[in-house]
Amino acid sequence: MKKNNLVLENLNMIMAVSDDSIIGLNDKPFMPWIRRVPEDMNYFRRTTIGKGNNTVIMGRKTKDTIPKKFFPFEERENIILSRSPKETIFETQEIDKNIDTSVMSSMEEILEYIKNNPEKTFWVIGGKEIYDQFLPYVSQVFLTCIHGVFSEEFKDVGIVKIPNIKDIIGEFELLSSKKFLKDEINKFDMTFEVWGRFYN
Ligand SMILES: NC(=O)c1ccc[n+]([C@@H]2O[C@H](COP(=O)([O-])OP(=O)(O)OC[C@H]3O[C@@H](n4cnc5c(N)ncnc54)[C@H](OP(=O)(O)O)[C@@H]3O)[C@@H](O)[C@H]2O)c1
Repeated sequence: MKKNNLVLENLNMIMAVSDDSIIGLNDKPFMPWIRRVPEDMNYFRRTTIGKGNNTVIMGRKTKDTIPKKFFPFEERENIILSRSPKETIFETQEIDKNIDTSVMSSMEEILEYIKNNPEKTFWVIGGKEIYDQFLPYVSQVFLTCIHGVFSEEFKDVGIVKIPNIKDIIGEFELLSSKKFLKDEINKFDMTFEVWGRFYN
């Protein structure tokens, strides 16, 4: 594979996906496995905070699924992608002024901001629309595979799926893979994978 000139070294993606390709539920403020695998949220927190100076980028619909007490994500800069003005997005929400939170209205605006801030690490944290649009630009994909199936349990709720995990990681090679076995608190086995781009 030739080097893709779009790739930004300081841009990564982080996503959790079930064995039946689910990443979320339509208009529900939780992922199907939420509270059943708190270690995934711990991993998300640790990874996206990193050594500090990190930014999370999310779509407006994902922002709406995050319970108010957890938003904005602390110790990280938060950017929401939306075509609506900031006042509309936060109209019913008091935002912690100590956390840098902004709304950007286009991919171009965010990509420019990422390029102009090479000292920061940026994390695309979802949802599906945002993952699809940013994939050509990210240098690494941090994938949590949740080893459970949820289609039957949530069949009456709209499910958000990715079509095929190979569509996401097709241009990447596996850099690391760590198994987490279920326990008293975490009800599903998980694999924490890191995928990086490969070039000939
Ligand atoms: N498993 C995981 O790791 C994970 C992580 C995050 C989210 N999720 C799940 O993903 C689902 C949400 O995904 P989604 O695809 O429905 O929505 P989304 O990607 O979170 O947000 C879509 C919204 O982003 C804005 N947007 C998208 N592209 C834009 C562009 N080019 N310019 C300006 N604004 C743009 C628009 O907001 P406006 O309508 O305001 O203009 C659009 O409606 C939820 O179920 C959530 O739980 C899963």
